[in-house]
Amino acid sequence: MRTFVLFSLVALAICAKTMAEEGEVTPLQTIAQTTYGFGCDFLKTVAKTNNGNLITSPLSAQVILAMTYFGAGGNTATQMRSSLHMPVDDQRSQNGFKELITTLNNVNSVTLHLANKMFVRDGFTVAPAFKAITANHFLSECQSLNFADSAASAGTINAWCEEKTNNRIKDVIKPDSLTSDTAMVLVNAVYFKGEWDRKFNVENTQDRPFHVDEHTTKNVPTMYIKHNFRYGNIPDLDAKFLEIPYKGKEMSMVIILPNTINGLSQVTERLGSVDMPQLLKRSWASPVEVYLPKFKFETSLDLKETLEQMGMVDMFSNAANFSGISDIPLKVSKVIQKAFIEVNEEGSEAAAVTGLSGRRSFANSDDSITMNVDKPFIFYLLAANNVGPIIEGQLRDPGFDNPQENVKQ
Ligand SMILES: *[C@@H]1O[C@H](CO)[C@@H](O)[C@H](O)[C@H]1NC(C)=O
Repeated sequence: MRTFVLFSLVALAICAKTMAEEGEVTPLQTIAQTTYGFGCDFLKTVAKTNNGNLITSPLSAQVILAMTYFGAGGNTATQMRSSLHMPVDDQRSQNGFKELITTLNNVNSVTLHLANKMFVRDGFTVAPAFKAITANHFLSECQSLNFADSAASAGTINAWCEEKTNNRIKDVIKPDSLTSDTAMVLVNAVYFKGEWDRKFNVENTQDRPFHVDEHTTKNVPTMYIKHNFRYGNIPDLDAKFLEIPYKGKEMSMVIILPNTINGLSQVTERLGSVDMPQLLKRSWASPVEVYLPKFKFETSLDLKETLEQMGMVDMFSNAANFSGISDIPLKVSKVIQKAFIEVNEEGSEAAAVTGLSGRRSFANSDDSITMNVDKPFIFYLLAANNVGPIIEGQLRDPGFDNPQENVKQ
């Protein structure tokens, strides 16, 4: 049986967001609703086998898997549709994904790019109907490669990934992952870079204690800002949330901070039970003093086990049915994701509102609340129309010494 490989990658240089308005239920809305449910399931499952810092893009994985789903049949398709939270109406899904990709690529106030590409073995014929769906609804291109020359093929694929992620993601595919059995490689790349709507002042960044666990505390560079943000308690999770908008308010980072130092696993486990987009919509911005560590790390994940645990079992086995892609029996051999994130003050300037001395004085002078992000937490990136999480992750230790320790293969 021939195999194909799926990649989804994400590169981010993060800095700030905003919230969306309501509308009638369009195909986009239908798909947007699925992204949150899938994202919660995905984080919960990935986090089970990752004990360090974690950055992933559920959206990237969902897009590339959804594209593949349209070439699947029988039980393989049923498992994929259900795990991907997709509606039964395929036409609606296809239109929804097209709108989703187009909408996100048209966000102007921050840099956000989603790109899909199919690399196909020389001489391998892809069913015209599948090719049409990938081109028309996933805006995907198709390129033939001689996989027998694995070094050159890996070079071509990696160069595409680098280009689409502004050189943030390199060496996604190793030549030895391309074998004589490889029929196709599907790649999704997401790149995001945004400035905070209200930048953090670099001069306010200082080392502050972060409780990695109940026994370990590290001093890490921590940013500070006081501004009006949406903020609230989530009693069901024993946690708080904070939304920090990016410039233009088309996107935002949402932080979910457990109330206890060791609360992260439980919050992650229960995340799906809370309708975060609704919670944000119903909350008001109020003055908050925010302490947030700076962070920068990369995660590389082999998602096969995660996706199997989420119910997509057949696609990796000899029972796989991709009759919509080709008459030749096909199965997926690998789903790999590599993601990078950097969160900093981004361009914070001396002109920003608060100074060190000022902040002490207004600590108790109004009703401002303090959000001290000083223990392991969840973060995610939401976009307009409640699409997302585009990116999500867990920060357990902003003070890790060697970034490589955070790269899992
Ligand atoms: C594969 O899926 C197609 C389309 O759903 C179906 O017609 C075919 O019977 C399936 N093949 C097997 C072996 O189940």
